[in-house]
Amino acid sequence: MTYENILSEKKNGTLYITINRASKLNALNKLTLEELHHAFTNAFTDNEVKTILLTGDGEKAFVAGADIAEFANFSVEEGKQLSKVGHDSVFNLIENSPKPVIAAINGFALGGGLELAMSCHIRVASENAKMGLPEVGLGVIPGYGGTQRLAQLVGKGRAMEMIMTADMVNAVEAHRIGLVNHVTPLEGLIAKCEEIIAKIHTKSSVAISHAIKCVNAGFADGVNGYEVEIEEFGKCFGTEDFKEGTAAFVEKRKAAFPGK
Ligand code: COA
Repeated sequence: MTYENILSEKKNGTLYITINRASKLNALNKLTLEELHHAFTNAFTDNEVKTILLTGDGEKAFVAGADIAEFANFSVEEGKQLSKVGHDSVFNLIENSPKPVIAAINGFALGGGLELAMSCHIRVASENAKMGLPEVGLGVIPGYGGTQRLAQLVGKGRAMEMIMTADMVNAVEAHRIGLVNHVTPLEGLIAKCEEIIAKIHTKSSVAISHAIKCVNAGFADGVNGYEVEIEEFGKCFGTEDFKEGTAAFVEKRKAAFPGK
């Protein structure tokens, strides 16, 4: 599939997905969401892809939100559908990716943009980044998981304030409150993500998939994360990666994980 609004490139086991609508500050319109769905779904089954790095084109914005022009005239039912399709096809999909997803936040991450970054497993922000959920200023609320994931990441009180005031936080503040894992100068942003990715690539990708599932289980409704952990822990013992990892330890050498 040829994409119009995203770029996707594979390099050294990482799929780099860049949202490529800089003239609209990479705002998420319907086509962009469909392309993201397609790119992520393909990556999950592509054996050459071990990790996914998501960023925005240009130096101004990661993603400035859902495309306001596109939904301005929506009805109640259309609004509900917009949210539901987004949750299912992109935001939950990314959060539950079996492969690590890192957001490189290179500028504004607002509304759906911050929600997109929060769906990723790890967030690294550049010093110029600004993040917020400004939806109540438009008479709407965050609809791509923002009310849930922001509270999970920064706590209920801070999430309430950020959502109610629609205030943006800068990268330093975002780091302080746990919204992003690291802050770097813009020119070092991708390199910092690649440093994290390089570490991940030396570990068992199979074990990492199981771990992602367990961490997410703790935040899922009606699911006991501890029970999921017991199950997933057990499954690891049947993998080739486990045999290699433990053998390498005993033999005092670096593990060469087969990824199975
Ligand atoms: N949806 C649709 N278009 C958007 C957009 C969005 N969320 N965010 C920015 N754009 C478009 C602008 O309409 C403008 O397009 P135009 O040149 O055709 O008029 C272009 O991107 C550049 O944005 P502009 O507002 O001129 O840049 P700025 O530097 O003055 O302001 C922001 C930057 C991020 C502060 C401002 O664009 C903004 O507030 N965007 C909306 C943020 C938001 O509310 N997001 C949540 C949506 S639910």
